[in-house]
Amino acid sequence: MSVNFDRFDLADLTKRRGAKWAAAPGDVLAAWIADMDFPLAPPVADVLAEAVGAQDLGYPSGQDVDAVVASFVARSASRHGLDVDPSLVVVTSDVVQSIYIALMTFSEPGDGVVVQTPVYPPFLSAVADTGRRLVEAPLAVAPQGYRVDADRLRAAVRGQGAKVMLVCNPHNPTGRVFADDELEAVAEVAEEEDLVLVVDEIHADLVYPGRSHVPMPLAAPAAATRCVTLASASKAFNIAGLRCSVASFGSRSLYDRFSAVPSHVRGGLSVLGLRATAAAWKEGDEWLGQVLSYLQDNRDAVATALAGLDGVVSFAPEATYLAWIDLSGLGMGPDPAGELKQNAGVLLSSGPDFGGPGKGHVRLNFATTAEVLQGILSRLGTYLSGRRPRVDSGRS
Ligand SMILES: Cc1ncc(COP(=O)(O)O)c(C=O)c1O
Repeated sequence: MSVNFDRFDLADLTKRRGAKWAAAPGDVLAAWIADMDFPLAPPVADVLAEAVGAQDLGYPSGQDVDAVVASFVARSASRHGLDVDPSLVVVTSDVVQSIYIALMTFSEPGDGVVVQTPVYPPFLSAVADTGRRLVEAPLAVAPQGYRVDADRLRAAVRGQGAKVMLVCNPHNPTGRVFADDELEAVAEVAEEEDLVLVVDEIHADLVYPGRSHVPMPLAAPAAATRCVTLASASKAFNIAGLRCSVASFGSRSLYDRFSAVPSHVRGGLSVLGLRATAAAWKEGDEWLGQVLSYLQDNRDAVATALAGLDGVVSFAPEATYLAWIDLSGLGMGPDPAGELKQNAGVLLSSGPDFGGPGKGHVRLNFATTAEVLQGILSRLGTYLSGRRPRVDSGRS
């Protein structure tokens, strides 16, 4: 099977009705929300076509739900060597929903929630929307890129009355795949402060050669019982609109507390989401290998284009199809995304939405065809090279 990842050209993409392209007016190129512009994995497309063809779109069965749990358990064992107890897995409709439920279950209003920034914006809105208190712990920026600094994290968390730490690994927006020592540091702080560790691993299937994803319970076995792992096929297999994810618990007590939220409050599950997820996790790996190699070329094209621009700083991601770009050296103000949409015709995600360190940054989604990506990079290159780096150029 060889997939043509260039199948959808710009004319096809701009006709799409989903959020990514609908938000890009006129000839603006969309490079913001984390959806991909590629054809689906054939096993996923087939199972969806089969359900629609048979008009089999009623409520899902218990078998549909069990198939997702079984495929998640099998995948955790085969890809990561992690044994997951299927009786401690809950299927939910999306990862962000699980984050909200976890905060409401494992903390009280006013309790602190630790979040390492920059981070996927719903981590921050979940804390605010549930009336919890943000304990912001910025990642350190080393010469090689962002990293967890144990002392810095400990200092930010100590004495803050936190109950939960939200962790994103692989990390959106920086693309880091945290190393064992960084995960161990996170787990140690969680032990010291008695925190529940909610770890969003939605990007775990999108890791480039040279790095590998280690689930938190394997990196820090002593902390396994305080871990809640969130996963979904939605990012790697590009089915976010179908709504299906899993939450896996390191202990029966965490599972029981989360499951005490009635299933009707958690919301129903979609038959298409369940079937597509099981197909992706069971039969999608050939497609996944091909998409990763296409994305790796795109990642390298982004790195080359940005490296040639004075005043622009970006570290090539180890995972994800997202590039986190520091434009603060160009003096474009705290939120350059608006100016880039207006003047360069490229729609990016706004850095400040990702927390304090996002000032002066943008996030670029490079999961598109090589041709559209060239358009995006050439527009950004032309505009940004016309801006003069500030004399005190450096990262914020
Ligand atoms: C880290 C992270 N978590 C969660 C999500 C969204 O997941 P869901 O649509 O299942 O809520 C995204 C989407 O980009 C993400 O990057």
